[in-house]
Amino acid sequence: MITNDFWLDRWQTGRIGFHQEGVNPRLIEFWPQLPKNSRVLVPLCGKSHDLIWLAEQGYQVTGVELSPLAVVQFLGDNDLSYETEQQGELKIHTIMGLPLRIIEGDYFHFQEQGFDACYDRAAMIAMPESKRDLYVDHTKARLKADPFVLLVALQHDGTPDTPPFAVNDDFIVNRWGNNIKKIVSENLVETNLQYKERGYDFFEESVWHITPPSAS
Ligand SMILES: C[S@@+](CC[C@H](N)C(=O)[O-])C[C@H]1O[C@@H](n2cnc3c(N)ncnc32)[C@H](O)[C@@H]1O
Repeated sequence: MITNDFWLDRWQTGRIGFHQEGVNPRLIEFWPQLPKNSRVLVPLCGKSHDLIWLAEQGYQVTGVELSPLAVVQFLGDNDLSYETEQQGELKIHTIMGLPLRIIEGDYFHFQEQGFDACYDRAAMIAMPESKRDLYVDHTKARLKADPFVLLVALQHDGTPDTPPFAVNDDFIVNRWGNNIKKIVSENLVETNLQYKERGYDFFEESVWHITPPSAS
């Protein structure tokens, strides 16, 4: 069973193979130009460099992360000054000099609404099946009507009961709705030896968009 303690332990023991040293190339390639100051939600953000990249584009970025260690590392590694405020069960870290906040705590306690856009890389696929519906519903409830969404999802032939979880196309379309479109997919086994070495024959990364009608 994947609990919050599972993730806290992953950070405590440094088992964070999901963390990327640079900005995710899919984000740079597929993020559109949104109006400056658009509010962008990054659920389950880890200590991703993608947060800084989005903030540097001029968006109001909010990342939500469970692990205090991830937050400390994010703030320290990027040499960021910040102010912290406790709001209920969540800690709100407001970064100085960048339009960026990191919310420390359980995503399911985060209740703000009205986000224009959402960037999900390795968030939905970190949720076990038992929580996946709830995760998508909770995320949709944070967004305005007709948001922009960039989702990076995975399907693979590895073990089904530990993350990253394989999530099939039907689930994505059923939960996110017919407006979501797969814009690219790639079997990473064909281009990157490490997946074969980790025992996969098939490890497909796919990028999905929901584009607001006004932008299409
Ligand atoms: C697979 S990692 C992805 C991190 C980040 N999106 C990235 O691209 O590097 C999943 C992250 O979700 C966090 N997490 C898991 N459950 C959470 C929850 N209920 N609330 C907030 N964060 C959570 C974990 O601590 C972990 O950092």
